[in-house]
Amino acid sequence: MKPSDVFQLIYVSTARLPLNTVELKALLAGSRVRNEAAGVTGILLYHDSQFMQVVEGREETVRGLYAKIEKDPRHFAITRVWEGHVPTREFPGYAMAFRDESDPTLLGLPGFSTLLNERPSSPRTSEKPTPVAEFIRTFRRVSGIDQ
Ligand SMILES: Cc1cc2nc3c(=O)[nH]c(=O)nc-3n(C[C@H](O)[C@H](O)[C@H](O)COP(=O)(O)O)c2cc1C
Repeated sequence: MKPSDVFQLIYVSTARLPLNTVELKALLAGSRVRNEAAGVTGILLYHDSQFMQVVEGREETVRGLYAKIEKDPRHFAITRVWEGHVPTREFPGYAMAFRDESDPTLLGLPGFSTLLNERPSSPRTSEKPTPVAEFIRTFRRVSGIDQ
């Protein structure tokens, strides 16, 4: 795939019912298998019933996946916040980040990202942040991780 063929889509949504760690792990495991087979990379953030997901891959693949995700009864208020072609993938694989301080097994889970457990990295003033970086920062604020 040529770098310019990378299509990225970002949406936010709200869980119909709060998801527990077992449900989140199952969602991550299933998505990882399907996304790897489809050449899709990205990240799913979850905190306090709020989702934010970045998916990237071929445009028709990403649009097809988004059409499925939109129909998923586990969430609602699904709002696309950005879509477009990007020069390169921003995520090397498919991962998911959520916080559950009580579950130490998460850290060894394939595809588990500690992005939401870490302090936010301060932006370098000389560089314009990518849309993804902006949205992750917004997600951390809106979902209540950063006050
Ligand atoms: C918040 C959220 C994110 C999801 N992300 C993905 C994903 O990245 N990849 C994926 O294959 N399924 C994802 N799913 C699951 C899909 O909605 C759907 O259940 C899955 O693609 C299986 O669809 P199928 O049974 O029609 O093949 C997600 C579901 C939710 C609620």
